[in-house]
Amino acid sequence: MAKKTIRDIQVKGKKVLIRVDFNVPLKNGVITDENRIVEALPTIKYVLDQGGRAIVFSHLGRVKDEADKAKNSLEVVAKRLSEHLKKPVIFVPVTRGKVLEDAVAQLKNGEVLMFENTRFEDLDGNKESKNHPELGKYWASLGDVFVNDAFGTAHRDAASNVGIAANIPVTVAGFLLEKEINFIGGTLENPKRPFVAILGGAKVSDKIEVIQNLLKIADKVLIGGGMAFTFFKAMGYEVGKSLLEVDKVELAKELLIQANGKIELGDDVYTGKAFDAETEKNVRHINAIPHDEMGLDIGPRTVAIFEKYIQEAKTVVWNGPLGVFEFPRFSEGTKSIALSIAGIKNQATTIIGGGDSAAAVIQFGLSDGFTHISTGGGASLEYLEGKVLPGIQCVDDK
Ligand code: 3PG
Repeated sequence: MAKKTIRDIQVKGKKVLIRVDFNVPLKNGVITDENRIVEALPTIKYVLDQGGRAIVFSHLGRVKDEADKAKNSLEVVAKRLSEHLKKPVIFVPVTRGKVLEDAVAQLKNGEVLMFENTRFEDLDGNKESKNHPELGKYWASLGDVFVNDAFGTAHRDAASNVGIAANIPVTVAGFLLEKEINFIGGTLENPKRPFVAILGGAKVSDKIEVIQNLLKIADKVLIGGGMAFTFFKAMGYEVGKSLLEVDKVELAKELLIQANGKIELGDDVYTGKAFDAETEKNVRHINAIPHDEMGLDIGPRTVAIFEKYIQEAKTVVWNGPLGVFEFPRFSEGTKSIALSIAGIKNQATTIIGGGDSAAAVIQFGLSDGFTHISTGGGASLEYLEGKVLPGIQCVDDK
């Protein structure tokens, strides 16, 4: 990797600022998916084992007013981190000031503190999210070195990643950021072939750039989910009540021409009369979708067509579910494809680009069948679009 990592520096006795992405989902104050915490543990443990003083911080949710502030404290996450580390995590309930500075000054080698949600600073002129120079400089002043391990935030130009990096002599990647760069960045640069990309999700408009970028790199682009219907319409089919972006039909036509046969959409779908978990399920060929039905999942023939490409692939990158997997009745397509990828025999590299498809695979209990499940939602999407991510760019080059 062209970027410096935590292995390239000495951390013993140093105050090590560690930016993680602990923006985890919370329901009634309870963490419902702690994958991002688990994935950040190797970096934090390494710093502690090497005798560094770990100052851990993250954003959580979006903080626009006092009510957001009340429900987005990181205290519950600090508690969970402490359980994972099996040692105390000193939680500092502020984002700046004497209390924080004193806590940092008292921190000993091998100890860890975590301060409050960096986005609490957004209440004062969006200082965190807009990367106010004074804030990055202040946080940088609290440490000796900066370890950025927040891949999930790498597409944001914030004070707590880019701002700190601009104001501290040493910025390196943590193990998670390194892993994400190696898997996603490495695959896009140099994929083992055949390289099959699978794209799903509701809207073409959210995925235009990722389709365009992957058409350049992949050997085959399989498209399912809600956005497939805009393509079917572009091919001249009637799509009934299915999701359709009328203003993107022309674009879908252009993408199909540009793809020159690389895009595969399959030829059947499961439909229902309503967007409802209990709606009756029918299988329809795409030239026979009734006007009062909507497509809610890819059909069995489409699954078989997709599987053929998947089984031959040496690299698979998947972003976006292929149906309404939250409704058990319409989760079959997404699940079959997850099973198919997990079952590839030829030592393929299989990557899930975060977000809903990662949630689906975790929900199906199939995470172990994949080489890499990204911790980034928006970040992995922008990475797959071929963009330079500010949170990666700000890490020192080797
Ligand atoms: C994410 O969950 O995608 C990241 O933590 C970034 O969060 P944001 O979209 O609120 O900036």
